[in-house]
Amino acid sequence: MKPSPRIEKLLSLFRPGAFLADVGSDHGQLVIGAVDSSLFPRAMAIENKKGPYARLKAAVEESGHGREIVVSLSDGLDELDPSCDSLALCGMGGRLIAEILERGKAKLSPIKQIVVDAHSERPYLDERLLALGFVSSSAVYFEERGKGYSLERWERGELGRPRSSLERKYGLAPFAFLQNGYRAFLERERDKSSLLSENGGLPPEKRTEEKESTAELERYLHENA
Ligand SMILES: C[S@@+](CC[C@H](N)C(=O)[O-])C[C@H]1O[C@@H](n2cnc3c(N)ncnc32)[C@H](O)[C@@H]1O
Repeated sequence: MKPSPRIEKLLSLFRPGAFLADVGSDHGQLVIGAVDSSLFPRAMAIENKKGPYARLKAAVEESGHGREIVVSLSDGLDELDPSCDSLALCGMGGRLIAEILERGKAKLSPIKQIVVDAHSERPYLDERLLALGFVSSSAVYFEERGKGYSLERWERGELGRPRSSLERKYGLAPFAFLQNGYRAFLERERDKSSLLSENGGLPPEKRTEEKESTAELERYLHENA
């Protein structure tokens, strides 16, 4: 089966590696695509729920990569193979991704890159990834059927400076990778903040906060036009 456009974009973010572990693998498109394209010679697909696990196992068998892809019914990084050098945690909330990484942090030392697609709480996830010794090294903002996705690769490193107020509110990627589709995202966030700042139903302090965000985003977009 051909990977979806979002999975194709996720695959394009990886540096070629030795052994990929995809946590929350579900349909298995990412691991199958990774091995199919020779991006990784081996992969591990991890699922903690029986229904998706059964589907995943069937999809891997059908792909003909049953020897290269290990399928594991387990939680987070509990059964992570110590030879894995790359991780994917995609299609989950940022807080859940951060919790999985935190719980399994003793197993992270061989990991060189982590590709994440968090559909919420990205600034929280940024904070946790930075604390774990990773820094955002590539990212793309991508829309499909009206839904926005922030797809990011993190690698070993340090940011080396405090995050700005905009980065703490919207995440690091939109500012580090402004040209990769993020401009439209930031313009929409500016318009949303502007509408909220005029909403009389909101508490005055919230409206002031949104007014400040609008001005900050406007200034940033102008300076980086
Ligand atoms: C919405 S799906 C995303 C599937 C795929 N990664 C993608 O991006 O298209 C999230 C999957 O993560 C699995 N999951 C959630 N928490 C997990 C955990 N702690 N360990 C392993 N799998 C988990 C869920 O069962 C579900 O199949």
